[in-house]
Amino acid sequence: MPKKPASNQHFNNLDAQPRMHQRAPEIQQYGTVTHALPLELEEPVRLEMTEQLNQLLADTMTLRDLYKKCHWQVAGPTFYQLHLLFDKHFNEQSELVDTIAERIQLLGGLAIAMAHDVAETTQIERPPKGREEVPVQLSRLLDAHQIIIRACRELAKRASRLGDDGTNDLAVSDVLRTNELQAWFVSEHLVNMPLTEAAQPSMAAD
Ligand SMILES: [Fe+2]
Repeated sequence: MPKKPASNQHFNNLDAQPRMHQRAPEIQQYGTVTHALPLELEEPVRLEMTEQLNQLLADTMTLRDLYKKCHWQVAGPTFYQLHLLFDKHFNEQSELVDTIAERIQLLGGLAIAMAHDVAETTQIERPPKGREEVPVQLSRLLDAHQIIIRACRELAKRASRLGDDGTNDLAVSDVLRTNELQAWFVSEHLVNMPLTEAAQPSMAAD
C-alpha cells in the first residue's frame, strides 16, 4: 500500500502575518482552582485561601495606587519628604502585589488583575479624583493600612488552621510586617508637633 503523504495542512497556514484580534473561551474561570497539584493541600483549602488572598490583593493594589496618588498630589512644606516616602511605600506595596498574586496562581487559583475588578472588590474607601490636604491623605493611607492589617491577621490564623503554612508565612512575614512598618512611618506625620518653638518652654539650664 502506498504511503500516505503526511498532512501538510499546518504548514500551509504558515505565513509571516501576525494573527490579530483573536478571542476564545476562557481556559479557567475566576473563582476556581485547578484540581491536582503536588502541594499536599486539598482543593477546598486552596479555594478558600485563594479567595481570601484575592481580597488581600485587591486591597493591596488599591493602597499601592493610593500611595501613587498621594505621591503626585501632595502639597505644602513637607512636600519633598512625603513625595519620596509615598513613592518608597508605593514600590514596597507593588512588590507585595506580585507576591500575593503569584501565591494565588501557585495555589491553582486566578489572581484578580484589572482595575475595574479591583475597584469592585476592595474594601478601601474610594478617594475623590481631586487633590486633598496632607492630613487627609495621611488619614486615608492609615485607614487603608488598618483594613489590610486586620485582614492579614485573620488570613494568617485561618491559613495556619488549614495547614497552609506558605500563605500564613506570606501574610505575616511579607504583608503584615510591611504594613505595620509603613503605618508607623505614616502615623508619626500626624503627631501635632511644633516646628520652631516648644509648646511649653522651660528655662534652659546654664
Ligand atoms: Fe514619581
